[in-house]
Amino acid sequence: MPERLIAGTAPVILDLEPGTYYWCSCGRSKDQPFCDGSHEGPPDTGCQPVEFTISKPQRCALCTCKLTNKGPICDSSHKRIPPTWRPPATAAPDATQTP
Ligand code: FES
Repeated sequence: MPERLIAGTAPVILDLEPGTYYWCSCGRSKDQPFCDGSHEGPPDTGCQPVEFTISKPQRCALCTCKLTNKGPICDSSHKRIPPTWRPPATAAPDATQTP
């Protein structure tokens, strides 16, 4: 089963130009919300980036919590994260774990 981490608790709003993008689904990328290859590990997360294509300039709300059912687009699933949730003290500022 893929092991996902929460990378953020709100979507990132970006104005994307036409092109192909790879959304991080594992939550380990240091280039959120995009894949940087961190899913390959070690350890291998079992996750794969989600490829998506933008055909015209478009404002997008990209999920950072990795709980969305419409990846890469935010579906408000981040609202299920408890408001008291914080990344572990030993993690990098943008690294997180599941609640
Ligand atoms: S940021 Fe993940 S569903 Fe909104």
